[in-house]
Amino acid sequence: MTSTAPLVAVAGGTSKQGRSVVRTLLADGRFRVRALTRDPSSPQARELARLGADVAAAPLEPGHDDEWFAAFTGARNAFLVTPPTPPENSCEFELGCRLADAAVRAGVEHIVFSTLENVDEISGGKLFAPHFTDKARIADHIRTLPVAHTFVMLAFFYTNLLEYYVPRMEDDVLLLPIYLPEDFRAPFVDPLTATGPAVLEILTHPELYQGETLPLVGDIISPREMVETFQRVTGIRAEYRNAFTRDGLLRWFPEFASDELQMKELLGMVNYAVDHGYFRLGRDLEWSRRITPEALTWEQFLRATGWQGKRTSFNAS
Ligand SMILES: NC(=O)c1ccc[n+]([C@@H]2O[C@H](COP(=O)([O-])OP(=O)(O)OC[C@H]3O[C@@H](n4cnc5c(N)ncnc54)[C@H](OP(=O)(O)O)[C@@H]3O)[C@@H](O)[C@H]2O)c1
Repeated sequence: MTSTAPLVAVAGGTSKQGRSVVRTLLADGRFRVRALTRDPSSPQARELARLGADVAAAPLEPGHDDEWFAAFTGARNAFLVTPPTPPENSCEFELGCRLADAAVRAGVEHIVFSTLENVDEISGGKLFAPHFTDKARIADHIRTLPVAHTFVMLAFFYTNLLEYYVPRMEDDVLLLPIYLPEDFRAPFVDPLTATGPAVLEILTHPELYQGETLPLVGDIISPREMVETFQRVTGIRAEYRNAFTRDGLLRWFPEFASDELQMKELLGMVNYAVDHGYFRLGRDLEWSRRITPEALTWEQFLRATGWQGKRTSFNAS
């Protein structure tokens, strides 16, 4: 790779989505990559440096505009992802807007932002899911900036079952508490394998994707089908459990009882997906599967990861 290869800044570089982008672009070889992180000495950041990324200390927290500006300086493109934030006093909207502003001030020509649908607008204000709506509002802000832009919109992550809604073994049966009704088919994706190839495609053909919002989907599958597939692939007896109603969620994850707003957001997100579909009507749900075989189905994800139901951390430091 030459020092004249275009530089792509990835904020946050160590996230599941960001890491996928960094790895894919470096493996492709046509780009230099700068990964933004709170801590360049973390194992995840050091691994990205080992792969060839330039790692910059630039926390995705309010008040770090100068570090963002420095990290975006010299970059032609920026991939932006906002970190998971609790709904209580969330600063996601402000953070995303200021991050994009810093990228534009630093001379970035094309922003790819990881957004979600505007639940507030779609549900007529009835459902509370600020981590969706705030991302849609950030995208609206980016549309007003003097910069080329493309949005990716990831489906539910398979990794939610590995990180957050973790199964538990009772006798010899693995119980999977899932945050969706048993027969509701929802879009899912693996952020670690699907994001990078999609962003590579966008950066390779920016003129095709100017202004577009591109869903990343690996599978459209119900919890019942997920559990059946899990049993078939792993040979482990497994059963679905309801974690989508308030009572179901609290039965399996009593810790949510201490945070009413977080609970409201989780239920709002699920009700939104069930009532309105996760994506707005008219989105091209086949795009990611068409452009890249890396958009794994649930079965491919299970086979590729060898996951057997254990808690998995993707950001262990
Ligand atoms: N879960 C889903 O089903 C789903 C679906 C679609 C979209 N999303 C969205 O995806 C985003 C998360 O993406 P991801 O899962 O790829 O990220 P992730 O793996 O959770 O990583 C987020 C990164 O942000 C940084 N970070 C974490 N907490 C932070 C904090 N409190 N303040 C500042 N930085 C922090 C960390 O990087 P450093 O420590 O290196 O700074 C971390 O690597 C969220 O906005 C979520 O809403 C989730």
